[in-house]
Amino acid sequence: MEEKKQLSRRGFLKTATLIGASLAAQPILSKAVKTQNILSDKSTTSASTNVITAQRTLGVGKAAMTVSALGFGVMGMNYNRSQSPDRKQCIKLLHEAVDRGVTLFDTAIVYGPLHNEELAGEALSPYKDKIAITTKFGHEVINGKTTGRQDSRPATIRQYCEDSLRRLKIDTIEMFYQHRFDPNTSIEEVAQTISELVKEGKIKRWGLCEVSAETIRRAHKAYPLTAIQSEYHFMHRDVENNGVLDTCKELGIGFIPYSPINRGFLSGCINEYTVFENNNDNRQTLPRFTPEAIRANTRIVNELQHFGRTRGMTATQVALAWLLQKEDWMVPIPGTTKLSHLEENLRALDFSYSAEEWRELENKIAAIPIVGSRYNAEQQKQVGH
Ligand SMILES: NC(=O)c1ccc[n+]([C@@H]2O[C@H](COP(=O)([O-])OP(=O)(O)OC[C@H]3O[C@@H](n4cnc5c(N)ncnc54)[C@H](OP(=O)(O)O)[C@@H]3O)[C@@H](O)[C@H]2O)c1
Repeated sequence: MEEKKQLSRRGFLKTATLIGASLAAQPILSKAVKTQNILSDKSTTSASTNVITAQRTLGVGKAAMTVSALGFGVMGMNYNRSQSPDRKQCIKLLHEAVDRGVTLFDTAIVYGPLHNEELAGEALSPYKDKIAITTKFGHEVINGKTTGRQDSRPATIRQYCEDSLRRLKIDTIEMFYQHRFDPNTSIEEVAQTISELVKEGKIKRWGLCEVSAETIRRAHKAYPLTAIQSEYHFMHRDVENNGVLDTCKELGIGFIPYSPINRGFLSGCINEYTVFENNNDNRQTLPRFTPEAIRANTRIVNELQHFGRTRGMTATQVALAWLLQKEDWMVPIPGTTKLSHLEENLRALDFSYSAEEWRELENKIAAIPIVGSRYNAEQQKQVGH
């Protein structure tokens, strides 16, 4: 009965085409006078700002969620990316993103742990009626510290949901993802808890991160998924070949490419001498971020820069625009601590090139051997189930 209510994939594609056509008729970035700011500390910003208008729909039927075509990953503002600017600066930047039309903001319980959700809540809860803050459960966090274990038992999900709602200062979570698969709790049992939380109004939708195509099918059958969030960029294209993107397409599930700039590497701002902060940057634990790997993989950045040079694009914009043209049910979530980078990233929506031009770039990059795997052995064990 519920399933009948959902749009068929064909219906969804037709609708998406119509939306796409209407979007094509209007500029994706437009100069617009800012809407009245909700918060009083905004009076110093300029009256005219580039606002993104392109939107994308993740999921179908009752699972559907429409958000800005580019989202914002909040994680790196105070976790794992070395820099932690002053809290006020972070809040101001998040408001700048809202002003520029970004309506999807991504955080997780484990980021911080907890502090990232608190930051997102403080900055974004005043806008809760016009944006979506998504968060993730799964990693066990006890007394503010991670244990390295997974815990998606029903009572834990319920407890984590309550805690996230409190930290985010919202009444309902727009999308609650399972961050990593829990080998001790079946995905059907997780889906059951999710369906109850939806009924109770605590969450609106759910998603999964870094799971196999088989798990996506089982989960979606048990309770319709809105989106899958997995790593996807020029240096990590597994989802193209392991059935994940094919399954999303077939079932009408959205896709969120995370770390779309490969944790900053594809921007060209990282080199073999870059120092990562000891206690606040997981890049130093990743095989692709050793000085040797960085030196070798810089050839990939050179190709992005080469492609962008004659087209007026930075390497970051090439990386993001490539993802954006893949499918209209994909919404990358780059993170930044800088207004200049936010504006640069949003500008990636301005560029559109032929499939042939992109294929040529893909072929050049595919010919470059990538040095170092994306995760260390421990992190790798937690993905692909
Ligand atoms: N589901 C999961 O398991 C998972 C895992 C990892 C991440 N995520 C999500 O994905 C989001 C983004 O991931 P991420 O932070 O790992 O990687 P990312 O978005 O690929 O890269 C972020 C890094 O790139 C830099 N950057 C951003 N724009 C730039 C630009 N225009 N020019 C130069 N540098 C730029 C940022 O530094 P500046 O501050 O200097 O701009 C930051 O250090 C996270 O916030 C999180 O929400 C999810």
